[in-house]
Amino acid sequence: MPKTAKLLVTRRFPPDVLARAERDYTCTFNENDTAWQGDDLIARAAGHDAMLCSSSNKFTAGVVAGLPDEIGMLATFSVGFEHIDVDACKARGIAVSNTPDVLSDATADIAMMLLLTASRRAGEAERMMRSDSWPGWTPTQLLGPGLAGKRLGILGMGGIGRAVARRARGFGMEIHYHNRSRLAPDLEEGATYHATPEALLAQSQFLSINCPMSPEMKHFLDAERIELLPQGAVVVNTARGGLVDDAALIPALKSGRVFAAGLDVFEGEPKINPAYRDLDNVFMTPHMGSATIETRNAMGFKALDNLDAYFAGTELPDRVA
Ligand code: DGY
Repeated sequence: MPKTAKLLVTRRFPPDVLARAERDYTCTFNENDTAWQGDDLIARAAGHDAMLCSSSNKFTAGVVAGLPDEIGMLATFSVGFEHIDVDACKARGIAVSNTPDVLSDATADIAMMLLLTASRRAGEAERMMRSDSWPGWTPTQLLGPGLAGKRLGILGMGGIGRAVARRARGFGMEIHYHNRSRLAPDLEEGATYHATPEALLAQSQFLSINCPMSPEMKHFLDAERIELLPQGAVVVNTARGGLVDDAALIPALKSGRVFAAGLDVFEGEPKINPAYRDLDNVFMTPHMGSATIETRNAMGFKALDNLDAYFAGTELPDRVA
């Protein structure tokens, strides 16, 4: 394939992904791996036909409006695409693709890890070991709720939610879920459907948030909905930070209304609400749901498959705009 198309690669993606991009396109790379934004992003787009970008680049309506005319496509290295104003892209005829499916298992692994680390107090345990403050075994040290026999509520039963369900069944959990539409029985695999998210919350001794972010879902888990959870519930979020109202979750964690939280994503990340740092019953990870070598390669290759389709004039496998 002649390297006629000019590609702006906005982050330092995994080496195999960069190598394939360089093989097939005339690329401009981001040597410093800084998250380009706003006018800087617009200026760097000049002279390129498309971008391989990520959720750390915000394509607001203003940024999309400012993009040079020659930019025909944004291929985001993410399943989530709330960082791109897709309506603004559609209005300008800019195609957009994402990377569904390939990160479901890796993200579900992290959700499972957080269900365990939050409920079993792994953060406190690890800090105790590192600070040489373990007094020795005691019968009541670091007790937390077990998973077996408990109800896990999954909000958003797409590929990631279903992968969480498969894992949690292996831990003896009873699966409940809410989704925009009820799944067919073969996908439901015996999980109990709740027609409203509120009905799901009332059953969720453990809650795993796995739905996409949208303006309507901003601060979904607010003070009122936290009150619907069973006393001492455990909350895990591997989707987007904005789905949780930190101002409501933090006091609920302080009071014990929520036993613990496992959070991989944060509103305003990487600047997180500092109050979380003082809470022993929060286990935090830095947005690493998809961070396996295999998954990050697969995400990059999927994004490149979509770019290849665009430049070949064929339908994008994962078009979102
Ligand atoms: C995704 O793919 O949406 C991940 O959260 C990384 O942005």
